[in-house]
Amino acid sequence: MEDAMERVRNFINERVLPEKAEVLFGSAKHFEEEMMMYDCAIREVRTKLEVLNEELSVRYNRNPIKHIKTRLKRPVSILKKMRSKGYEISIESMTEHLNDVAGIRVVCYFIDDIYDIARWLAKQDDIRLLKVKDYIRSPKPNGYRSLHMIIEIPVFFLEEKRMMRVEVQIRTVAMDFWASLEHQLRYKKDLEGLENAEEIGVELKQCAETIAQTDEQMQSIREKIGVFTELT
Ligand code: GTP
Ligand code: MG
Repeated sequence: MEDAMERVRNFINERVLPEKAEVLFGSAKHFEEEMMMYDCAIREVRTKLEVLNEELSVRYNRNPIKHIKTRLKRPVSILKKMRSKGYEISIESMTEHLNDVAGIRVVCYFIDDIYDIARWLAKQDDIRLLKVKDYIRSPKPNGYRSLHMIIEIPVFFLEEKRMMRVEVQIRTVAMDFWASLEHQLRYKKDLEGLENAEEIGVELKQCAETIAQTDEQMQSIREKIGVFTELT
């Protein structure tokens, strides 16, 4: 099994030189430790989700989760966010203010799976639910849909138990399809700068709505067939 520390070290080396982390965050060692803790929190949450999926699979032959993707926020992105929000640049300030240093994305099949997973996760008694943003019931103006949760989970280290915050994004394959493509398009080019930006925005939103309709239709087909509905 890959050593957590090793992973974090590689991650930092890849993205920022250690001496740079030192300049930015006071102590490269401290920063590395902090990121290791976030990495461990991600793995705890991933395991919880895998346990849920496994149990459902064995007991009911149901697999709500298609795949899980995790990420640690890059030091550069951490810095950018803290600067843009006007927070002090320090590790303590990062821990206090940022909710998404540890991120986990759960891609499911059906809309109902999203809410089931959210409920199953939130009801576990070691998890504290800090925030929910339902961009499915209230999509973002650009059409973005997903369920976002900020949770806090205890992680046991040698000398302490730390409550670690993790951002969990839960979405259907269809929502993930749209978000990935939109992200890529936005990443490739600053859409705001284009003269036809508005038209592109409208088109992207139309795609999001078509996709959302399909999601709802698939959900209703599932209900007609009657699979899994008895479990919710
Ligand atoms: P940020 O992380 O700065 O966006 O803070 P926030 O508190 O406004 O977070 P929010 O819950 O709205 O969104 C957090 C994450 O959701 C982002 O980092 C993206 O991964 C994803 N996300 C939000 N909006 C969009 C969007 O319009 N398109 C895509 N592709 N992803 C989005
Ligand atoms: Mg974010």
